[in-house]
Amino acid sequence: MNDRKFDEYIDRTGTNSVKWDFRNEVFGREDVLPMWVADSDWRTSESIIDSILERARHGIFGYTGTDEETDRIVMDWLERRYGWKIDPNWVVYANGVVPSLRVVIKAFSCPGEGVILQPPVYYPFFTSVKNSGSQVVTNQLKMKDGKYRMNYEELHNLCCPEQESIPADPPPTLMVLCNPHNPVGRVWERDELERLGSICLENEVLMVSDDIHSEFVYQGNSYLPLASVSPEIADNSITLTSPSKAFNTAGLPASIAIIKNEQLRERFKKAGEKLLTRPSVFGLEALIAAYKNGEDWMDDQLDYLEDNREYILEFFETKIPRVKPITPEGTTLLWIDFRKLNLSSEELKDLIVNEARVGLDFGSWFGPGGEGFVRLNFACPRQTLKKGLNRIAEAVESIS
Ligand SMILES: Cc1ncc(COP(=O)(O)O)c(C=O)c1O
Repeated sequence: MNDRKFDEYIDRTGTNSVKWDFRNEVFGREDVLPMWVADSDWRTSESIIDSILERARHGIFGYTGTDEETDRIVMDWLERRYGWKIDPNWVVYANGVVPSLRVVIKAFSCPGEGVILQPPVYYPFFTSVKNSGSQVVTNQLKMKDGKYRMNYEELHNLCCPEQESIPADPPPTLMVLCNPHNPVGRVWERDELERLGSICLENEVLMVSDDIHSEFVYQGNSYLPLASVSPEIADNSITLTSPSKAFNTAGLPASIAIIKNEQLRERFKKAGEKLLTRPSVFGLEALIAAYKNGEDWMDDQLDYLEDNREYILEFFETKIPRVKPITPEGTTLLWIDFRKLNLSSEELKDLIVNEARVGLDFGSWFGPGGEGFVRLNFACPRQTLKKGLNRIAEAVESIS
């Protein structure tokens, strides 16, 4: 079922869109079809637009806070969508997931200490760790039969080295999970989260889970918040999320941190005093409208994305079988394996940017394990998707 509201092509140029208006800066040419940044090329829900317009008409945009009604709306959304029951006291509002992640790193990792990341992963994780003076410790994901998995043996070793093995230097005190995982599209399952959680618990490694893509989960998969797996794991974890991916409101920063453990929550709040702000007036309006009235729109969007995903998988199989898309279980991001073409990093860039004229995120940006891959955002009208895929197919054909 194709919903026409997602089929409409809307010109985003001239709106200061990072994705559309900064092509020259990033790719060195204006004529690439931008399919990189993780925002969507369709309008947000009417209920969000209406509530922003109504609030704008009020005309006074002073300092803004949240109340018990906001907490209730957030709690209801999490319970309705994921069966996750939280207490309103656990919620801390802020102006973005990445700013909140930086605060978590500052609050819970001393300069020089290790923070575990599981690359290939969303690249601001690396800069967030490095800029705080902590050290990135990598536990690279493993791919088998086209599916990525966590490397528990290596993780165990990094946290608690055997006598003869080389210890992680410096010792990790924090690990960052991405669920669903950007860019590889995994939606982590219960047994995976339990295993990860117990290794971290045993070794006193605090977990922070970035769940910003949690609303984008495809049939046959279900999103499970790390903190819902067990009370012990909930006490040893912080969840960061926002409606901004799901409802395409990234330009209206508003996010939530969900922290059950009171000591962790107070430390997070203290560290955030100078570094975080509350959501802006319109960010908060968007968050409330999304969680209160956004369900039907979200489900329509998921149907459309599901069809886009199916279209893509069939396209690669029939038109470019040498290039392998990793089937995304969640997110709107497609991680594509070009390694069979045996291109160097520069050659792959040249193929995508100058031959195909498509703007994608390059795998090398995502750390170890990213080389030879690219990431494509398929949250766009089918006609844009077809155009981008056809351009990639023609470029690959030209060098085959
Ligand atoms: C995994 C992940 N976390 C965080 C963000 C950005 O979050 P925010 O805009 O709230 O800082 C993104 C954006 O693409 C993302 O993919």
